[in-house]
Amino acid sequence: PFVPVIPAGGAGTRLWPLSRRSRPKFLLDLTGDGRSLLQSTVERLLPLADHPPIVVTGVDHEESVREQLAEVGSAHVVPEPSPRNSMPAIALAAALVEREHPEAVIGSFAADHLIGDHEAFLRAVGIARRAAEGGDLVTLGIAPTHPATGFGYIEQGAPDGADGASAELPSGAHRVVRFVEKPDRERAEEFLASGRFLWNAGMFVVRASVLLDELAVQIPSLAAGVREIAAAHGTAQHQEVLERIWPRLTSIAIDHALAEPLAADGKVVVVPADLGWDDVGDFAALARQLREHRKAAESSEGEETVPDAGDVRVLGSVRVDAVSSRATVYGATDRLIALVGLDGISIVDTEDALLVLADEQAQDLSVLVARLERHG
Ligand code: GDD
Ligand code: MG
Repeated sequence: PFVPVIPAGGAGTRLWPLSRRSRPKFLLDLTGDGRSLLQSTVERLLPLADHPPIVVTGVDHEESVREQLAEVGSAHVVPEPSPRNSMPAIALAAALVEREHPEAVIGSFAADHLIGDHEAFLRAVGIARRAAEGGDLVTLGIAPTHPATGFGYIEQGAPDGADGASAELPSGAHRVVRFVEKPDRERAEEFLASGRFLWNAGMFVVRASVLLDELAVQIPSLAAGVREIAAAHGTAQHQEVLERIWPRLTSIAIDHALAEPLAADGKVVVVPADLGWDDVGDFAALARQLREHRKAAESSEGEETVPDAGDVRVLGSVRVDAVSSRATVYGATDRLIALVGLDGISIVDTEDALLVLADEQAQDLSVLVARLERHG
């Protein structure tokens, strides 16, 4: 069987004030289609799932997550007492799956990404699943379009056959040489120029038992800890065991805990895939997405465009009027927002904070958010 796993943590500070600690990115509807990123992630995975997807999230968000998931179908919510990065969350889900279905393959997918091409996604996960049945850790790789420094990179192996595939793997799967997590600009440019690298999209497909056995080699206490928590699942001791063990688990990302060391052992495979994938990490990425997504819809619906307005996208109920501006505006307030002659900006209007940002410097928002967090 195949069981989807969705670790849902982290706040997405580069989308403040849309995302807040109380309302992280994965709970937001960033496309205007009435679905949060988490809801879309679950819906996308349901056709593949032999058992309900497992969503691992912080206790603070458990209730909102349950409410949202109730609207899209069945899912199993596993609350974690505190954030300990992606590896403990995914490993706990793996241990719960392993206990019930020792043969199962799990697929871990970020809760807060956009995927434009569902068919391509389902196809790629199908290939990844077949490769994972052979005992490898399998990841999906995205062809990089620019030297991004916010992603991990995956180096593909030298081609065996004419299409770069190796004989022992399903067609469309390639052996991985190494992972490089978030390189600096210079290295990212080298990677892009070499043509051998893909972006790590944070999707991992692997047998639950392989994940835990390999983790037991890399970080024995972490594998033993989540297996002990899973063994107590459904018993009267569960909460006590969880609260005793969880705070002691190593806080680490799956990329460092497993992907990097296993790649060095030749146990990682990548399925390159063109998915229309975007992690919508900041307002520049979001503006780009809204422009692409809405182009098709608008031309088909023949939506009226205001003469001289420029190109202004609006997400939410806020009213906007503009003269020769190119901007994206977000807001649930009932204020009128007026723009004249602004180019390449994002505006976020909320009850207690107003953000005006040049899309070119969207990355720098994290500087401001860090300052706000320090000074309250
Ligand atoms: N439950 C839970 N608890 N989930 C968590 C936690 C946690 O403490 N921390 C992170 N996650 C989840 C996030 O919600 C997301 O789904 C996934 O784990 C990855 O974590 P991020 O914090 O978003 O990682 P990243 O964006 O810095 O980097 C990863 O993703 C990139 C693609 O977006 C890496 O895999 C990169 O290599 C990759 O390029
Ligand atoms: Mg991320």
